[in-house]
Amino acid sequence: MTQPGYDAVAERYSEAFPTPYQTPLERHVVAAFADLVRERTLEGIVLDVGCGLGHVTADLAGRGLDVVGVDPSREMLEIARRNYPELRFVQDDAQLESMNLGGQSVAAVLARCSLIHLPPSDVPNVLAGWAVRMAPGALVAVAGQTTDSVGEVSEFDHAVAPAWRWHPDRLAEALSEAGFEEVWRTISRPDAHHSFPELHLVARRRCWV
Ligand SMILES: C[S@@+](CC[C@H](N)C(=O)[O-])C[C@H]1O[C@@H](n2cnc3c(N)ncnc32)[C@H](O)[C@@H]1O
Repeated sequence: MTQPGYDAVAERYSEAFPTPYQTPLERHVVAAFADLVRERTLEGIVLDVGCGLGHVTADLAGRGLDVVGVDPSREMLEIARRNYPELRFVQDDAQLESMNLGGQSVAAVLARCSLIHLPPSDVPNVLAGWAVRMAPGALVAVAGQTTDSVGEVSEFDHAVAPAWRWHPDRLAEALSEAGFEEVWRTISRPDAHHSFPELHLVARRRCWV
């Protein structure tokens, strides 16, 4: 398994994005998510799904979380391991099928700008797969480019790999159908770094799926 688009650009990507966040808001949103995860004191590891270069994985580790970075791109992971040799990285995609958790449960999942690369019809299955590995109260945060068009999930022109923008309510609905209820969301408007609005949506695993 690999991710040919990101494999091809990994070194250039690393030069273009040497830091985890493009804006202070992104940093604060991830920090708020990490605070919430710590407050819950749930057993288990935190997965950074689609961790790419590992910068955000390292930020989560620095915030006291027991985090594992997961990414299908061999080349992105090679750079992540070079940048952060003390952290754990596993080659897998969002489905987490080849990941051996060794009986550990998952306390939280962060997926920033990675679920956007899944064909929308694959997303419900991926979210359901996370839900079965998570105890009630466990948290997910899904982030990525979004759209203002109500109800829409639309493919957009992404420089590296096919990608889709989800309207926030559509994503919240997909999460709900998989067993997660929304806790909060942030939406930022396009800026110097982002051509589209950006969504961070946090949800918690319900007691029932
Ligand atoms: C834009 S980068 C985001 C990296 C990191 N999450 C961040 O916030 O900086 C997108 C990452 O998603 C990964 N990705 C692409 N398809 C994926 C999939 N099906 N499952 C998990 N990750 C995927 C890519 O390999 C790439 O490293």
